Order: sequence, then structure tokens, then C-alpha cells
Amino acid sequence: MSRVLVLGAGAIGQWLGGLLACSGTEVTLLARPPHLEVLRVRGLEVEGAQENLPVRAIASLEDLPQEQRRFEWLVLAVKTFAVEAALAQAQQAGLNPTRVLAIQNGLGTEDQVAACFGKARTFVGSVTRAVACPDPGVLRPGSRGGLALAPLARGEIPGDLPARLAAQGVPVAVLADAAAMKWSKLLLNMVANASCAILDLSCRQLLAERDLFRVELQALREALRVMRRRGLAVVDLPGYPVRLLARAVRWLPEALAFPLLAPRMASGRGDKPPSLLLDLRAGRARTEVEWMNGAIALEAARLGLEAPVNRFLAETLTALARGDLPEGAFHRDPRGFLERLEWASSQSQGKASGGRRSPEP
Ligand SMILES: NC(=O)c1ccc[n+]([C@@H]2O[C@H](COP(=O)([O-])OP(=O)(O)OC[C@H]3O[C@@H](n4cnc5c(N)ncnc54)[C@H](OP(=O)(O)O)[C@@H]3O)[C@@H](O)[C@H]2O)c1
Repeated sequence: MSRVLVLGAGAIGQWLGGLLACSGTEVTLLARPPHLEVLRVRGLEVEGAQENLPVRAIASLEDLPQEQRRFEWLVLAVKTFAVEAALAQAQQAGLNPTRVLAIQNGLGTEDQVAACFGKARTFVGSVTRAVACPDPGVLRPGSRGGLALAPLARGEIPGDLPARLAAQGVPVAVLADAAAMKWSKLLLNMVANASCAILDLSCRQLLAERDLFRVELQALREALRVMRRRGLAVVDLPGYPVRLLARAVRWLPEALAFPLLAPRMASGRGDKPPSLLLDLRAGRARTEVEWMNGAIALEAARLGLEAPVNRFLAETLTALARGDLPEGAFHRDPRGFLERLEWASSQSQGKASGGRRSPEP
């Protein structure tokens, strides 16, 4: 492997691009302001590192001469809601990479990639390292976790990309079943994510409240039921014993789960605010919740299962992001949030009588 294009130079794009550049790979980052200028002038800065890493950052694929548009890997590092446009850009530029790596959280972007470039070329990545970008062109990677990757078409091999990343000290796991990997990662991502965004609470604040912890437990149990119905195994991911989490979520009664799991979930999340809360605070009209809790609810419905908690979280956060619900409708209001969830769940289970009105947010 010698040439890699990273499409989307945010936290993960810069992190993966930087690691690959350190391994001697020729990396091009398709970047947007404000990262673009900083990367060009100063290179990539990793907090605590002695020197910045010189990287090639471009503003547009059209800036690449035709003969430089051949890449062994296209790493798609934009958020889920930006994937469609990014793929259209790649196609317009006539890119024909040997393999494509989609690293988005949530479900479904791998199918978009496969529709563009074919299933055999599509690889799925689950990043378990939390990476923040406190300033443009500055990376703050956490110390735990790494990358798991799997081919979308079973049996395809990812060449030397895993070895190159592993050589930089990053735990890398190559797995066989992309769907099992994605759903297992989703179990980690969904914990104290949508609820924190809706309530504007930190993970620690949320998970300290037993009533709110119960919501997380219910949402996880819904996801696990979908996985079981689909025959998807829960798999461990670098730095995260997801199977243990799943067993605890399935079998522990809430009275034990709360004191045992809640503090571990809170510390597992680290100090980085939940991604959906960041999306909402950034004023984005779309968040990744549609590909997380929303995708679980959709898949549950497809399989004839109920997932009222995930549906509620997805619908509420989507409405907040779009402005269909007033900003801050549930800010620091667990009671209003829980009442609304109870009402929505009873509606979806057909228990609500015509006389019961939705509580106002
Ligand atoms: N950060 C983490 O710790 C972490 C960990 C695991 C997984 N993930 C997943 O990794 C994915 C990326 O997350 P991230 O945190 O790296 O997001 P991010 O920091 O927002 O980075 C995405 C970057 O891509 C840019 N972009 C979007 N569309 C583009 C296009 N068409 N051409 C060029 N650039 C484009 C964005 O620019 P604009 O901001 O201008 O749109 C942004 O700079 C997400 O699915 C996330 O869930 C993140």
C-alpha cells in the first residue's frame, strides 16, 4: 500500500491519516476550513508530540491531476450524514480506489459505499479510540481503544493497512463479520449518547440518575434483541469487552446493574462529551442519531420487534436538531423527558387510550 486518500479531515480522518503518514504511506487529506489552512501551513499537531507531522492537505479533488487520482485506499472519514455527498464527489472525480474504508459510527454507510464502489472493495472500520480536535489541525487522541475492521464481503483481505496502523502502536483487530462488528460498536456508542444530547447532561450526570440509567438499559436491551433475532454475535472490540457488557445488560437485574454498570459506563466514555451532544451544540440540522438509535428502531420494526425507547430517542433528537421541537425543550428536565418517553412507549405499544394527551416538553 502506498497511496491513501482520506476524505474528511476531522478528528478521525486526521488521526488515521497521521498514523498512516507516520508508517511511510503517502497520505492526501481532503480537508475543509478551518483545518485545511492549519494543516497546510503548520502540519498536523498531536498534543504532547515533539514535532508536527507534515501532511498533504487539499481543498478539492479537482486539485489533483488525473495521474494522481489512483489510490490503494479511500478512507471515508466524514460523518454519516455527509457520506452521500462525499461519495458523489469521489465518483465525480473519477476515483477508482482499490479498497474503501468506511469508519462511521452507526449503521448503513457501508451499504452506501458498496453501492458506489462494489461490495468486494468495501471495508468497514469501527474506531474505539476517542479522538478530539480541540483546535483546527490539533489532535487529542485518547489512550484507550484502537480500530477493528472487517470486509463487507466475507473473505476479502485488507492488505497491509492493519499492519501499518498496528506498527504505530494502535491495537487493530481484523474481524470476519462486518455486521456483528458494527452492531457491537453501536452498543458502545449508544450508551449515554442520545439521552445526554436531549437533556444536555454529561455522561456522568446522566448515569448517576437511576431513572435515566434505566432508559439506557432498556435501549441496549432492545438492540440486543434485534441482534439476537438477526443471529449477530456480540464481539469484543479493541480496548472494550463488549461481550461482557452485553451479558451484564441482558442478565443483571436493574438493582445490581445500576451500581455495577453505571460507573463503568461513565468511565468508559471518558471526558469527551457524547458525539450527539456535540452535533446538537454545533447547531447541525442532522445528527448521527438516525444511523444509531433510529437504525435500531427501523431494524426492529422490519423484524417485527418493538424498540420504543430507541425510536423515541431518535425521533426526539431529530426533532430538536431540525427545530421541530424548541431548543432546550428537555434541558436538564429528566422528569419531562421520562414522562414523554413513557407516553411515547405506551402509544407505540397500543396501550394509550384516546383520552391520554402527550405531555408538553
Ligand atoms: N471522533 C471520535 O472520537 C470518533 C470515534 C469513533 C468513531 N467516530 C466516527 O467517525 C466519523 C467521523 O467523525 P469525526 O469525529 O472525525 O467527525 P468530524 O471531526 O466532524 O470530521 C469530519 C470532517 O469531514 C469534513 N467533511 C464533511 N464532508 C466533507 C466533504 N464532502 N469533503 C471534505 N470534507 C468533508 C467535515 O467538515 P465540516 O465540519 O465542515 O462538515 C469535518 O471536518 C463519525 O461517523 C463518527 O461517529 C468518531
